[in-house]
Amino acid sequence: MICIPVTASSNEGAIDEMKEAAKFADIVELRIDYINSPDLESLLKERTKPVIVTNRARRQGGMYSGDESARIGLLKEAISLGAEYIDIEHDAVNEIGDAGSTKLIASYHNFDETPDNLLDIHSDLVKLGAHMVKLITFAKKITDNFRIFELLCGSGFPTISFCMGELGQISRILSPKFGGKLVFASLAKGKESAPGQLTIDELVNVYRIGEVDKDTKVFGLLGNPVAHSRGAYIHNGAFKEKGINAVYVLFKVDDQELVGFMEYVRKGYVNGLSVTIPHKESVIKFLHNIDPIAKKIGAVNTVVNQDGKLSGCNTDCPAAVDALDETLQKIAGSSMEELNEPICGKSVLIIGAGGSARAIAFGLNEKGANITIANRTETRGEMLAKEVGCRCIGYNELNDIEIDVLVNTTSVGMHPNVEGSPISDSVLKKGMVVFDIIYNPPKTKLLQMAEEKGGVVLGGIEMFVRQAALQFELFTDQEAPLELMRITVSG
Ligand code: ATR
Repeated sequence: MICIPVTASSNEGAIDEMKEAAKFADIVELRIDYINSPDLESLLKERTKPVIVTNRARRQGGMYSGDESARIGLLKEAISLGAEYIDIEHDAVNEIGDAGSTKLIASYHNFDETPDNLLDIHSDLVKLGAHMVKLITFAKKITDNFRIFELLCGSGFPTISFCMGELGQISRILSPKFGGKLVFASLAKGKESAPGQLTIDELVNVYRIGEVDKDTKVFGLLGNPVAHSRGAYIHNGAFKEKGINAVYVLFKVDDQELVGFMEYVRKGYVNGLSVTIPHKESVIKFLHNIDPIAKKIGAVNTVVNQDGKLSGCNTDCPAAVDALDETLQKIAGSSMEELNEPICGKSVLIIGAGGSARAIAFGLNEKGANITIANRTETRGEMLAKEVGCRCIGYNELNDIEIDVLVNTTSVGMHPNVEGSPISDSVLKKGMVVFDIIYNPPKTKLLQMAEEKGGVVLGGIEMFVRQAALQFELFTDQEAPLELMRITVSG
């Protein structure tokens, strides 16, 4: 069930917000601590959905600054007016007395951490004899969320529980899977009643919160940072399109937490992962199987969990090769010989020698391309060239070689530094195929320059969409809705 807190500071504003919230919420939380002189009678008369009346004191993270007996007095008034629920802090439950037909939610909030003794806190809450308990903590690390999930799985009592804060957002999305009774969403950005609260629009339209249940499979992006990622839009949109009971979330995991996080993955809390910086290499040690090309590349961007056995592969590699293949096929037109293996024998210059360059170099090498690498740090370029079995040249030699296909794998030209180009335009020639793996902006400075010279250009969106589509297929065993994914990324 979804609950939207009303946080207006006036009675009129709260009535307006209640009406708006009632369109989306199963329950509306009336935060009377936000209202100057709340008129409970009018507020409750105007409700169209069940309400939780909450009057949180400042010491517990709320806005109420009056004296304690007046604070409790307002809650008793809500009870006498027939409010469906009141939220009462665990240390004040005994002050309430007879609650009549109103149901009590005994709550515990910790704005600093997710304490070690979660189970003790929960059992103390249960003992208070309320109708439901609410145990809300602050996530300082990603594993705090999974401790909440463990608590929910074994709680055996109606419980609302999740973590606050940016790191706790996944618990807001996933708590219904583990039996959490209520999810809180803000009406709009800026209307949050607690840190990390997602908007109703995000919860409903991106994460399809109404459909998250015990059978929902959990996928997500493992990385740091992850906030910029379009992954949740692409994968959740594709799950919806295909009618798959799954949700994709963002797991922000720093280096020190990777071991703890992967332990929860292995236990089955997560069914599959996309992997990005900085974990593409470090995740390998947690895998039971790794596919041969990902092993060669030394980087994994996809992990699938089958009954606790983790398999890794690299979809960046086939995505780049396929995108380039298709472009070369279009150019080749009707020449059947070229159509079979358009990359074979082509002279390909790869700029860069990082993780993406590795994936593309090994992939194109398998297809018989004649590869040259140029990297800012020449020693790194030379090391990759040695592994792949190709040559490496300095930036000062770029004008001296024949190039059919140029691939930029560096971040030069990426938003916000969109005026940058990894090479000067003297390297670009008519008919040259120029592939930039950057997808923001869709047409980089390099691609603009290449077009001006009469080159054929390929932007990073195509590779990005294809690597996500291949992941989707590994996650679900179903064909990816490629066109929808393309539209989602471009939009
Ligand atoms: P990714 O996994 O996205 O490939 P990476 O492993 O950090 O990221 O690699 C980034 C690549 O971009 C490297 O080849 C890097 O060159 P160095 O090896 O010299 O660091 C290259 N790169 C990044 N910024 C660059 C810049 N301003 N000019 C030229 N090359 C750059």
